[in-house]
Amino acid sequence: MNTKAQVLKGDCLDLLQQIDDGSLDLIYLDPPFFTGKVHRLRDRVGTHVFSYDDLWRDYEEYAQFLSKRLSEMKRVLKTTGSIFVHCDRNATHVIRALLDDVYGKDQFRSEIIWSYKRWSSAGKNLLPAHQTIYFYSKSNQYKFRVIYDAYSASTNIDQILQKRVRNEQGKAVYARTEDEEILLDDEKQGVPLSDVWEIPYLNPKAKERVGYPTQKPILLLERIIEIASEPNDVVLDPFCGSGTTLVAAKLLGRNSIGMDISEDAVKLTQARLKTPVKSESQLMQKGRGAYLTADEEGINLLRGLDLIPVQRNKGIDAILKRQYMGTPVLIRVQKRGESLMKAAELLSKAARKKGSLKAILVRTEQDSLFRETLPENVLVLNSTALAVEESLVDLPMLVQEALDEHVKGETQELTPDSLQMEGDNN
Ligand SMILES: C[S@@+](CC[C@H](N)C(=O)[O-])C[C@H]1O[C@@H](n2cnc3c(N)ncnc32)[C@H](O)[C@@H]1O
Repeated sequence: MNTKAQVLKGDCLDLLQQIDDGSLDLIYLDPPFFTGKVHRLRDRVGTHVFSYDDLWRDYEEYAQFLSKRLSEMKRVLKTTGSIFVHCDRNATHVIRALLDDVYGKDQFRSEIIWSYKRWSSAGKNLLPAHQTIYFYSKSNQYKFRVIYDAYSASTNIDQILQKRVRNEQGKAVYARTEDEEILLDDEKQGVPLSDVWEIPYLNPKAKERVGYPTQKPILLLERIIEIASEPNDVVLDPFCGSGTTLVAAKLLGRNSIGMDISEDAVKLTQARLKTPVKSESQLMQKGRGAYLTADEEGINLLRGLDLIPVQRNKGIDAILKRQYMGTPVLIRVQKRGESLMKAAELLSKAARKKGSLKAILVRTEQDSLFRETLPENVLVLNSTALAVEESLVDLPMLVQEALDEHVKGETQELTPDSLQMEGDNN
């Protein structure tokens, strides 16, 4: 799709003033968060330091700065447009109040919690593991596309398949015909997306990371853009930093405008737009549930043994609580699309590193590889799913053999000899 992206350098207040009234469809902003810090980070090569200031005298100065800009943003939004404002615990209270003031309490749509896992220590406090994105619309005619999420593992199959109605007490119950037969519901696409979004934070090695401080994941922006805009719409990010919003807009066929006061940010955004790179998140593709399933496959095969799941390790998915000859027992589940050899080599290497004498690879995919070529220190076990699949492949042959056997038996009964025998017996 042919879309346009413009990157403008300057204070977004000045730049916004040059934009026509009611001309944009969606605005996302990730302004300084009132952290009281200068954010610095080295680029990928390590030769240049990107930075921006987030230093304020007090809340009042911060609120004034944002208020003027939020008003301009409202002016340039179409009646069908929406604004998503990213912030964190440092100033959520200030920003919510400002948005109520500028856009109106009635135009508040959602408080999105972007939640992610962090591995740093919490100190004498709870570990911050979320940020907030306020979603306001300019009017009640805002664009909105419902996105569906997968059902949670605990969802009962009846909840998915059966029609539900409210009874006299207003309680949701399964609908039944007069003959007490259950009624099937319409096709379901999943659960409407909630306001808590679990999207991984960019890890230091993520492909899309460019080294810009507080760079946001493309996945997060894609979700916002998909919810509140349509192809060919115009998306604005007035604090674009490394240009994540513009890259996401381009990938989704939207036009975009980015603004930033920093020369570095503008150059970086232009460079990213030339060759957009997006990290593939396994977590997002398969869902956290799929990880659990992968572990469960292993656990099912080793039922009765206690496991400790291992996160973010290339070679190992879990270790058994019990040891083997005084060394840890390592488990890896073969990943989707990964060859058995690759999985075995990673596990074997990890086993050598950890001094493990027993490493178990749970095979989840059909692979033509001969077992003999696999590393010696790796024991391969089929996952339950694969074992069932393989048993089904053999089943027609077994059935045919059984049938042949049966038919042979019946034919024998009908041979003249067998008839003779029967006659003799009578
Ligand atoms: C939190 S960063 C944005 C990060 C961005 N979302 C990303 O994914 O890379 C905030 C940005 O706002 C920019 N900025 C600060 N004051 C500004 C202003 N008055 N006008 C435009 N940009 C500004 C900073 O230079 C910085 O790049």
